Amino acid sequence: MWKLTIIKSCLIINRVKLTIRFNLLENLLVNNGGNMRFFLAKDTKEVNTIAYNLIRAEILRNPKIVLGLATGSTPLGLYKLMIEDCKRGNVSYKDVKTINLDEYIGLPDNHPQSYHTFMYENLFKDIDIDLKNTKIPNGNAKDLAKECADYTAYIDKYTPDIQLLGIGSNGHIAFNEPGTSFDATTHVVDLKESTIKDNSRFFDSIDDVPKQAITMGIADIMKAKMIILLATGTSKTDAVYNAVLGPISEDCPASALQLHNNVVVVADPNASFMVRTKGVNPQ
Ligand code: GLP
Repeated sequence: MWKLTIIKSCLIINRVKLTIRFNLLENLLVNNGGNMRFFLAKDTKEVNTIAYNLIRAEILRNPKIVLGLATGSTPLGLYKLMIEDCKRGNVSYKDVKTINLDEYIGLPDNHPQSYHTFMYENLFKDIDIDLKNTKIPNGNAKDLAKECADYTAYIDKYTPDIQLLGIGSNGHIAFNEPGTSFDATTHVVDLKESTIKDNSRFFDSIDDVPKQAITMGIADIMKAKMIILLATGTSKTDAVYNAVLGPISEDCPASALQLHNNVVVVADPNASFMVRTKGVNPQ
């Protein structure tokens, strides 16, 4: 595919030389010094296939991979592809370990909106994974500080080969809200009003949305060998722009990803709108 790529333009942003390439599939690749690749998918379906092809290749290469997983509506299509391909017998998860980013505090594990339920219903029940190999923070732990410390220790032992991320409309990753230190490991977080509002669509009423969560910290997320961030929809376009081309700042937690050495961002045309129209100024 790379052979089909022709260099179209260059720009300098934040002392990083960004090379913008368009290939024949009309995907866009932003390569900031080789650290961040930005795929412009032509639609949401292609976001899922690009992400799945990356993940599938890694699982086939290493069947004992540790996969960091995310919740939210964005990865649902990707999870469907994982299920379909597993059911066809092409990929097995029997030796795969998974570790999730976050969980609400105070929801029972079997609550319809807990991330335990989300992962079971949308992925785990339909693939051949051993549930003992799946890990999600316990939002009902009696000692939350210990739960957080143990979770970070687990990440250090089973560091994700790939960490999948969505992005909040305010630039949050996992539940790391704007203002969170990039040095934070797994911790308890008070959710911002904007996040509570965004996530209220999954609950009967906004009052039912938990106000706190346990989340992998940015320092934990950055330990992953490769990070794949998926973004779809117009509500994400500012966040994607700030994450990819904005200043590296705690105001946009996802901008920390610019400091990682192996990040892939896959965005649909709505989510990439700002990057395409404001960020890319061919010279
Ligand atoms: C929640 C999750 C995040 C996710 C975000 C976006 O806040 N904690 O991990 O990225 O929602 O969700 P969606 O994909 O539904 O927009």
